Amino acid sequence: MNIAIYPGTFDPITYGHLDVIERAREIFDTVIVTVALNSSKKPMFSAHERIAMIKESVQKYKNVRVEQFDGLLVDFARKKKATTVIRGLRAVTDFEYEFQMALMNRKLNSSVTTVFLMPHEKYTYLNSSIVREIALHGGDLTEFVPPNVRKRLQQKRKKSAERF
Ligand code: COA
Repeated sequence: MNIAIYPGTFDPITYGHLDVIERAREIFDTVIVTVALNSSKKPMFSAHERIAMIKESVQKYKNVRVEQFDGLLVDFARKKKATTVIRGLRAVTDFEYEFQMALMNRKLNSSVTTVFLMPHEKYTYLNSSIVREIALHGGDLTEFVPPNVRKRLQQKRKKSAERF
């Protein structure tokens, strides 16, 4: 069984991430979307909320699971018997960081290979921070995130407006 893990912060998941998941699930028997708990970022959504949004977005795919992980990615991969880490490459600017991470992961565990998948070019400029910023200012996110994520972003906006 060919198992791949697709790690990230997913704060929140976007159509760009979903594009990568759709490509990965065509190649691998099982794709485990893994939500990092120990990311150095300060997420807007809790791990529970991020996982819920991903689960809602991938429930139609039989070979995609969602899990959380803490600690080193390669240890999680070993535990799950995954031999591949999937990362999305949107533009040249992603390359240096991704290259460093892939080589370090390979150094830490030589049986784990990183595979890069390119999402559709219409998502080149998309990331989760931009999505959060547009949401906080009430912009239209129809083209960037699925309806369930839009709804949760709207709820966050409402809550933050109530605080002021
Ligand atoms: N579509 C849209 N946006 C995308 C995307 C895509 N296909 N691919 C990446 N992005 C965006 C993300 O939304 C995120 O945006 P943001 O910074 O505005 O929030 C950004 O690109 C990169 O995020 P992500 O892919 O989630 O990676 P990350 O840098 O947050 O996560 C980990 C990196 C968690 C996978 C990595 O730090 C890790 O493995 N940590 C565990 C500890 C470990 O093993 N460390 C050693 C690693 S060598």
